[in-house]
Amino acid sequence: MRCRVRRLIFFLLAIVSLVILYQLIGKGPQTINDQSPFIIIHAKNHTYRILSSNFKYNSRESYLNFAYFNVEQRSRVLHIDYFYDIPVSSQWQLNGHLYPIQIAQFGLSHWSRLKLNTKIKQNHVYRFERIKPNKDNYCSSWNMIKNRIDLSNTFIHFAISSNCSLHIQFLDNDIELIYSTRKINDSKTSRKIIIPLTGFPRQVNRYMKIDIRKSIDNLFLSKSDFIKIRICGEPNSFVNELIVGNQTLYNQQAFYSVTRWLLHSQDLKTGCWFIHVKRTYGNHHQYRIRVPWCSAMAQGQAASLLVRLYSLTNDIQHLSAVRRAIQPLWSSNITRAYFNNRYLWLEEYPLESPAEGLFVLNGCLYALLGVIDVHTIDPQSYLLELINEMANSLHHMLPYYIHPKVSNWSLYDLSHITLQSKRNSATYSYHLVHIILLQCLSQIFRETNFSTSQLFDSYVQRFLSAISSKTNID
Ligand SMILES: *[C@@H]1O[C@H](CO)[C@@H](O)[C@H](O)[C@H]1NC(C)=O
Ligand SMILES: *[C@@H]1O[C@H](CO)[C@@H](O)[C@H](O)[C@H]1NC(C)=O
Ligand SMILES: *[C@@H]1O[C@H](CO)[C@@H](O)[C@H](O)[C@H]1NC(C)=O
Ligand SMILES: *[C@@H]1O[C@H](CO)[C@@H](O)[C@H](O)[C@H]1NC(C)=O
Ligand SMILES: *[C@@H]1O[C@H](CO)[C@@H](O)[C@H](O)[C@H]1NC(C)=O
Ligand SMILES: *[C@@H]1O[C@H](CO)[C@@H](O)[C@H](O)[C@H]1NC(C)=O
Ligand SMILES: *[C@@H]1O[C@H](CO)[C@@H](O)[C@H](O)[C@H]1NC(C)=O
Repeated sequence: MRCRVRRLIFFLLAIVSLVILYQLIGKGPQTINDQSPFIIIHAKNHTYRILSSNFKYNSRESYLNFAYFNVEQRSRVLHIDYFYDIPVSSQWQLNGHLYPIQIAQFGLSHWSRLKLNTKIKQNHVYRFERIKPNKDNYCSSWNMIKNRIDLSNTFIHFAISSNCSLHIQFLDNDIELIYSTRKINDSKTSRKIIIPLTGFPRQVNRYMKIDIRKSIDNLFLSKSDFIKIRICGEPNSFVNELIVGNQTLYNQQAFYSVTRWLLHSQDLKTGCWFIHVKRTYGNHHQYRIRVPWCSAMAQGQAASLLVRLYSLTNDIQHLSAVRRAIQPLWSSNITRAYFNNRYLWLEEYPLESPAEGLFVLNGCLYALLGVIDVHTIDPQSYLLELINEMANSLHHMLPYYIHPKVSNWSLYDLSHITLQSKRNSATYSYHLVHIILLQCLSQIFRETNFSTSQLFDSYVQRFLSAISSKTNID
């Protein structure tokens, strides 16, 4: 009898532990296949990717998991700029500004897609060599694309002259999208979207789905549509080499659009892409960001992008821009802060006094990755010194980023120590960003400084253990 009860209990326990095991595995990270450089995590109704052991970082190749970023779709992107075809941010300034971090991320994401997708076949690409207005009519006739086109494939590339407008009608969705280089005096309707291009004549590289989405909010769109195209304008105006549906071309040109902006708007003296918006903090009035501010994260990510440009061009001017980009990270305190007056930090949001700091973790690690990227093409001793100094800071400072109440969860910054503000727990997605950055840095340091590599690895393990047990932190 007792034996039977024991057997029953044993049996029940076995079932319970199987169920628990199943849940643990089910909730934890999953690899899709053995070759993938990424491990996929489904949580909070999102798909996230961290790095797998197949991931090999290289300063010429794709950047972390950025191939899966959709920067232009983010709600913080107000619209795509009319001159550069790069995102305009609404963060901290509702009427928009060109925010170097967002722009660099946009460029790095398209570069990364290009690198990961090179083997993808493009099926439905449509070309029109030249579209001109009819002689006696202000507009050309409509050019119809024969097949239905998926909205997710509405990449468009063309050269456009001044004084004309390119009209694209989406028939089922009843939308007219107009790229215009002339003053259009049409009354605005909810179904007519006018993108007032500037800087013509020029090459234009846009994603029509995003131009529609950013103009008309909350509109239900059917996923594919028939489109027709025409030009209106003066007799000598034209649209040349119009291509619809080539995502590779779009990725490539988006990358170049970013490099154009970076090269054009870098401050030549300091190397900074200065940010002029006033950043506001919820409840904090006691500390201020320098104005204008130079973000170590922006400098680092822009440097990573320009290193990739230089790897293509070998152009000495691009190398100079790369060197300037990280100048503010090593030659002055313009982007730096010192923890306990001792440990150097590269600040994403440098405060007015270098004696104060927020010590944002991800921003500093991105900046460090930028310095490491630059060091691979420009092996200067002052860069190596900076890299070692940062490794030293991280040895001493990483322990402070462990959440004291939530086991092995990470903190976003150290403002609770330096500014006595409320503890700033990392959101789920930032916690994963910390993991990815430390995974990548651990790999990079494995060859040159094993103890630092192991240190980063141990934090990867700790932070990973937190996500398999806890998935609902905000
Ligand atoms: C999860 O995502 C889907 C698709 O994006 C959306 O329709 C759904 O409302 C989301 N659910 C929650 C709980 O956010
Ligand atoms: C465009 O139109 C304006 C005003 O009609 C005119 O002054 C200008 O010369 C035109 N530009 C070109 C390149 O045709
Ligand atoms: C533009 O439209 C407004 C209002 O519809 C009208 O008053 C104005 O005369 C128009 N201008 C031109 C140049 O057609
Ligand atoms: C798409 O664009 C890329 C990059 O310019 C080019 O190499 C490729 O041939 C194009 N694909 C098609 C199908 O036109
Ligand atoms: C930066 O600040 C630190 C600490 O305040 C100081 O020791 C150092 O000399 C400064 N460096 C430069 C280049 O101004
Ligand atoms: C590795 O980095 C740590 C921390 O900066 C430093 O103390 C150590 O000397 C470095 N080791 C090597 C081999 O460079
Ligand atoms: C934190 O993570 C480490 C490494 O995975 C693990 O050994 C430790 O038990 C974890 N701590 C807690 C409190 O869960």
